[in-house]
Amino acid sequence: MLEIKDLTLRYGKHTALDGVSAEVGKGEMVAILGANGAGKSSLLGAVGGRVRPASGSIRYQDQDLLALPQHLLVEHGIALVPEGRGIFPAMTVEDNLSLGALPRRAQAGAAARRDEVFGLFPKLAQRRGQIAGTMSGGEQQMVAIGRALMSAPDLLLLDEPSLGLAPIVAQELFAALGRIRAGGLTIMIVEQNAAATLALADRAYLLEAGRIIGAGAAEALRNDPAVAAAFLGGALTD
Ligand SMILES: Nc1ncnc2c1ncn2[C@@H]1O[C@H](COP(=O)(O)OP(=O)(O)OP(=O)(O)O)[C@@H](O)[C@H]1O
Ligand SMILES: [Mg+2]
Repeated sequence: MLEIKDLTLRYGKHTALDGVSAEVGKGEMVAILGANGAGKSSLLGAVGGRVRPASGSIRYQDQDLLALPQHLLVEHGIALVPEGRGIFPAMTVEDNLSLGALPRRAQAGAAARRDEVFGLFPKLAQRRGQIAGTMSGGEQQMVAIGRALMSAPDLLLLDEPSLGLAPIVAQELFAALGRIRAGGLTIMIVEQNAAATLALADRAYLLEAGRIIGAGAAEALRNDPAVAAAFLGGALTD
């Protein structure tokens, strides 16, 4: 579904991505793991059309993604939940979700999709009239993911959804991601919570200073002592 080849991305003189290649198959959940500044958001942002690479290619559903204007990506089924959520804080939960359904591809079936989102995140149903900016961090993350799902995506891009959440809330979030994944949606996720992410993902890429330094099945990476030492802060705990 997604084929990233030899992607290089620079901010001025700083090279954030240096010849990155990665693939995501249909229905797969693929994680990008790496420390702060490794280039994770840059990689996701390049796929989401937010930043423009200097060279390399991205093919998405047999199209040249870099040739598509950013505003059309959502019509092609790409939904990005950026780092820091990007909800509309002054609007209600319900209005945030409705905005997600604005793309043409998402208008038919929006009501049913909203019910699915409410099923996935019952708290959003209870709080549908609440101003989104007054929700807790975890709830705002649910709004952001819910809004992305409202756009009827084929590929969901998640940038550190568990960032800043208390462990128990992060756990709930990962449980919801597990249900989304079980629904067959293709997911590319950037996370620092490597243990929880590897428990859920099919495969992962390890990014360090803009380069892929490892890749493999999530299960194998979970049991790799070198990975545990570098990304999991020692022994793996669930
Ligand atoms: N707009 C920008 N201008 C200049 N440098 C940038 C810009 N965005 C990112 N960078 C730099 O590029 C590198 C990669 O940044 P990126 O945000 O992709 O990392 P990350 O892996 O997502 O980090 P984090 O875990 O902290 O979110 C960093 O060194 C960062 O300072
Ligand atoms: Mg980031």
